[in-house]
This record gives sequence, C-alpha cells and structure tokens, in this order.
Amino acid sequence: MANSETTEFPPDGSIISGTATGRGQWGTRLGFIMAAAGSAVGLGNIWKFPYITGEYGGGAFVLVYLGAVVIVGLPLMIAEFMIGRRAQQNPVGAFQRRHRQGSPWQLVGWLGVASGFIILSFYSVVAGWALAYVFKSIVGFSGTAEQIQSQFTDLVLNPRDSILWHTAFMSLCIAIVYGGIQRGIERWSKILMPALLVILLGLMLYGLLGTTGGSRAIAFLFEPDFSKLSAEGVLSALGHAFFTLSLGMGAMITYGSYMKREANLVRDAITISILDTVIALMAGIAIFSLVFHYGMEPGQSVGLIFKTLPVLFAETGPIISIPFFVLLSFAALTSAISLLEVVVSYFVDKRGWSRRTATLVLGSAIYLFGFLSANAAWTVPFRGKQQGFFDIFDFVSTNYMLPVGGFLTCLFVAWVMKEKDRAREFGSSGRLFVGFKIVLRFIAPVAVLLVLLHGLELLPWVDYGN
Ligand code: TRP
Repeated sequence: MANSETTEFPPDGSIISGTATGRGQWGTRLGFIMAAAGSAVGLGNIWKFPYITGEYGGGAFVLVYLGAVVIVGLPLMIAEFMIGRRAQQNPVGAFQRRHRQGSPWQLVGWLGVASGFIILSFYSVVAGWALAYVFKSIVGFSGTAEQIQSQFTDLVLNPRDSILWHTAFMSLCIAIVYGGIQRGIERWSKILMPALLVILLGLMLYGLLGTTGGSRAIAFLFEPDFSKLSAEGVLSALGHAFFTLSLGMGAMITYGSYMKREANLVRDAITISILDTVIALMAGIAIFSLVFHYGMEPGQSVGLIFKTLPVLFAETGPIISIPFFVLLSFAALTSAISLLEVVVSYFVDKRGWSRRTATLVLGSAIYLFGFLSANAAWTVPFRGKQQGFFDIFDFVSTNYMLPVGGFLTCLFVAWVMKEKDRAREFGSSGRLFVGFKIVLRFIAPVAVLLVLLHGLELLPWVDYGN
C-alpha cells in the first residue's frame, strides 16, 4: 500500500503547505500551543503527579522532576517536533528516510502507533472515572469515610459502570478528532485549556486562602528534603517527566507535523513544557492544601484523587468537587485526543483513509479494546502474579514502550538526521543548538536508558524487593 508518498521528503527549504498536500495544519500559533499543552496536561499532571510526589516525599522529588523536564523532556520534545515538521507525516512516515522503503526506523513509528492504541484504551477508562465523579459530585459525597471510599471500589469492580463511562468518554474523544485538526482538535483545545486554567487557578487560590493547609502544601512541594529521596524516586521522576510531556510515542511528532515551516519550535516547546509543569505544581498546591487542612497524610498513593479527596469534598461541598472533577475530565480529554490522533494520522497518511473513516474505525477499535481494562475481574498471569489488563497495559506502555520509543527518537535526531535538516528545523546554529546536540547525543539517551532498565528492574543498585 501507499508507495508513492512513502519516502520523498520535501526538497530542502521548500514549503509544503497543508492545503497543497491535503493534510491539516494548525490555524494559529496559539491554537497549536493550546493543543500540544492540552496533550501534555492530562491525568499525568492532576492525578499522577500529586500522588507520586506524595509517595516519594515531596520537595526533593519535585526538584529532580524539574531537572528531568529541562534536561531530558524539553530536548526530546524539540526533537519530536523537528521530526514531525520536517516530514509532514505521521510517526511511521516520519521515521522513514529519504528513498529507503524498508528502513528499520519506521518500526519506531509503528511502536508509537501501537503505544497510542494501547495507552488510550486504558487512559479512557480512568478518564471515564473522572466523568463519573463529576456526576457523583453533583449528587454530593456523604456518609462515613469508608462509605465514600467504597464508591470508588464499587465503580472499579463493576465493569458495567466503568464501561458506561468509558463509552461516554471515548465518544467525546472521537467526536473531536472527527472534526479534524483546526475544527476539531484546535478548536476544542482553545476552549478546554483556558477553562482548565481558570478552574485550576480558582482551586489553587481556594487551597492557599480558603484552607489552613496552603503553607504546608507549599513547603511540602518546594522545600527539598534529600534524605527522603531514593534511587527509585529519581527514576520515577525521570519516567514521569516523559509521560507528562507526552513523549516517546510520536504524539508530538504528529502534532509537529501540522506545524507551519516558519514557526519557532524551540520557543514553542519551552512554552509548552513550562505550562505543563506549572499546571502540575498548581494542581499539587490545590490538592495538598486540602489534604493538610484536614490533617491527612500526603502519601496516599493511587487512591489520592478518587478515594482520599472525595472524603474531604464531603466537607467542602460541591462548590469545590464539581470544578475539580470537571478539571480532571477536561485535562484527560485534550490528552486523549492526541493519542487518538497519532493512530488516525497513520491511517490517513499511509493508508489513504479519509479522516472520518479512520476516526470512527480506529476509535471504535480502541474503545472495544478498552473493555479489557475496564474489566477488573479479568486477570492473566503477568510477571509472576495474576494481574488485570489495566495494570499490565499501563506497566508495559509506561515502562517499556515509551522509553524505547524515546530512546530511539533521541538517537534518530542526534545521529541519523542530516546536520542541515537538524539546524534548519532547530532554527539556529548558535550555542543553544550545540548544547541541544550534546544533550540529545549523550545525556538524554543515557537518562532514558536508565529509566528503561529501571522499568525492567535491571539496575543493580536499586532494591526491587524480590
Ligand atoms: N501527557 C498526558 C498526561 O500527562 C498523557 C499522554 C497523552 C501521553 N499523550 C501521550 C503520554 C503520549 C505519553 C505519550 O496525562
């Protein structure tokens, strides 16, 4: 299939406009930034970041995470934008080199498309819980702490409810991607992201001014206590920097491929990374203020958002809980559409499907595949114990697929891409560019390799407890 367009890249310096190739293109710079920041800001920021920060002891973990964003995350995001914009293609097409049909690099693109498929299938289940909690908030949380917490267990263990909310969420996601780049993804990102910021700002101010936990929350997040930091914490911070910026599977390649030639992708990547980080920290302040106000402990693990917070929301009332879960749902939605877009763009670019067909068919396939994750009772043996598909997919994609993809992406831009393409896409050849190349050649791949080996529990100096 699709041989003619496989490997011919635009001649150097040429401008291929979206309309000439029939591909979509971002309408405005702001629209692109909102869409890419929307991809980055997701469950990772509002659900995962606060709870792993709690688990790994606060400030010192946050500091390492910030370092990881700057040293590994940002360069890799720039690298993904460079690959995508240069090729004007989905990840599979983008990794094929000029005139080489069977380039093994396209496997990296394939891995990305497969990762998008798998991640979205379970991501949508968690996002469905977020939607469910918008409605639970409207009804209100009441009863004893145990009763409130058991609502979550009931939801997770009851596949019918989980699937219902998963259906609702995937429908929204499909509807947006169906609309295309400008009229679907960009338009909705431009509505949902500002709304998300306003809600989050309100919740953070409430935490700082309306509760007594604000100063402790700030201290917890920003005063590093290195005695609490473990090797495990460092690697998790690195792994999280990766996940939260949507790296390692071609989401940013795909979004970059709809970028205009004249856009400054380094500046845009910096803006997006800052937005993502600031939003995670704001969510941390909002959540930990409440947690400390009610005298709870920050290390509540995975249950922080869906079990601990609802108990506190029973005190604050729906004025706080409704916006909170709306925030979580919006964040999840703008991330989920980027996952679906990666898969859809492959079928549109390489297989010649129409966007609408691709969105409906692939969206439905991912939706059905998600049933595996929505069904907590279905377990299979994995890594020595019976596990549900949700945990397996989460584990395999986060620990294996994304780091492998990210590692190879670094190598591709650092060693395979031609110097003149690299310089042109980067947009300068000054000192910043030299620094970028050094990071991408040596530092980022090593860091990513460590994350990968850690995921495989192969680092000799970490105690994996088995
Ligand atoms: N970054 C999103 C989050 O923080 C999740 C996400 C969206 C993602 N697209 C991705 C993660 C691509 C890895 C790769 O929730």
